Amino acid sequence: MKIVVIGTGYVGLPHAAVLSEYGHEVHAYDIDETRIAAYQSGEAGNIERYVNEPGLADIVAENVNRYLFFTTDVTGVVEETDVFFLCINTPPNRDGSTDMSYYLNAIHHLGNLLAQRHNKQRVVLVNKSTVPIGTARLLESVMREHGVENFGVASNPEFLAQGNAVEGSRRPDRIVIGADTLEDMEILRRLYSQFVNHVRIRYLETTPETAEAIKYVSNTLLLTYISFWNGVGGRLAEAIPNIRMEDLKVGVTADARISTWGSYVSNGAGGSCFGKDIQSLIYQLNHAGRPTDLLRAVYNINEYQKIYLIDRAIHEAHFNFNQKKVALLGLSFKKRTNDMRDSAALRVAESLLSRGVATIQAYDPLAMDEARRNWFNPEKNYLYERITYHDSAVEAIEGTDALYISTDWEEFRGLARTIRTTVKPPYLVIDGRRMLPDFENLVAAGYDYLPVGGLLMRGRSNSSEAYSENDQAIPAIDELPQQVPA
Ligand code: UGA
Repeated sequence: MKIVVIGTGYVGLPHAAVLSEYGHEVHAYDIDETRIAAYQSGEAGNIERYVNEPGLADIVAENVNRYLFFTTDVTGVVEETDVFFLCINTPPNRDGSTDMSYYLNAIHHLGNLLAQRHNKQRVVLVNKSTVPIGTARLLESVMREHGVENFGVASNPEFLAQGNAVEGSRRPDRIVIGADTLEDMEILRRLYSQFVNHVRIRYLETTPETAEAIKYVSNTLLLTYISFWNGVGGRLAEAIPNIRMEDLKVGVTADARISTWGSYVSNGAGGSCFGKDIQSLIYQLNHAGRPTDLLRAVYNINEYQKIYLIDRAIHEAHFNFNQKKVALLGLSFKKRTNDMRDSAALRVAESLLSRGVATIQAYDPLAMDEARRNWFNPEKNYLYERITYHDSAVEAIEGTDALYISTDWEEFRGLARTIRTTVKPPYLVIDGRRMLPDFENLVAAGYDYLPVGGLLMRGRSNSSEAYSENDQAIPAIDELPQQVPA
């Protein structure tokens, strides 16, 4: 089939590449010329500068100019196309609603071109990126406005997690198609023929609105699991001695009805999707006049979780951050990505700076360039000048009074030894990911250990006095500081 994919970011490029593997003729379009030139080169380094997903560059290199074509001019490929996928970014507005301006520009442009088609064969326009419920209907009315003939609209949300886009596209757990007519369902069945009737893949056909809702409900439920474990399991183990977090998790999730995913406690979930999608769903439900208490609690718990350990360091360990040097280890929102969007580390840094730290010594295995981009501009916050950038964990830890682990990079599992050979107690280790299996040795050697989902463990009886040398009034815990708009 002849396919056009509009928008070649984290959603569009893997989708276009994997479709081309199945022998479809795929034209991937983007307005960004440098991005298209990079993909067109077929060079891994160039491609990964825009979308860094394991295995993706190889598929692009193998199929470019054979099954996969890149273009900045969609005019030439409109004729005889069976399916258009819309993979346009839909960032959040300040009030939690979705910024539809890029999407609207793209569909008006497309409507204009489709109205001038010579060949009037059936064409299906499919929303792939996450868009508010009702967007397929909006797409339909814009096409009518432009006088496009013989078209259908559909919703086919993607459920890929970052770092797993290629595997997830090749072996999805489900394909959800929301369309109005059998004719359009048939076209999409042909497109996804390898997944229809597959023994392991759920192929679901439904209405466009249901398909759009499935995406929002999926993401907000996943975030609910995370907030539940952080807000309930974690809180219990942080307050009551002798509760072992990992055992609690195993015991509870042994029940086949309960998800294991989301059951590890952390300093909050980040990334470009969860926060944005839950805010958008709250906005959509509010707009429909419906209560949103559960979603608001889930969102607020997750946002507070990102800085909660700093409050615990102050109130439980009596650590005063004023004029201290702190190592911040792990900046991306999860391991194996350089993406820092909505990352806990961003909130942690803001919180540390507002509490008067002298320096934040930052390190991440992949996200250093991204970090410089985020924090380089002192006009955004003049305190960003206090952040220094380091090439290794050891270098970031040297000369500090405390460290904060924010991302679950595997290399951090060996940090206990690095800490012992690099800095001397009194020293506070704040672990937002429960990354140190040998924390007991660390505590025995005199270091204080404050993990998420666990009690503070004191290495030295007098460390709280040492921490409070240049004490000042300790601010009260500001419960749920980030309230979403009502
Ligand atoms: C998420 C969803 O998992 C995908 O299903 C969805 O398709 C995607 O958003 C999207 O809407 O595009 P992603 O943002 O790549 O995927 O990240 P996840 O792997 O789900 O992790 C999100 C955050 O939750 C990370 O910060 C991670 O470290 C954290 N997390 C995850 C926890 O804190 N605890 C957990 O148990 C699991």
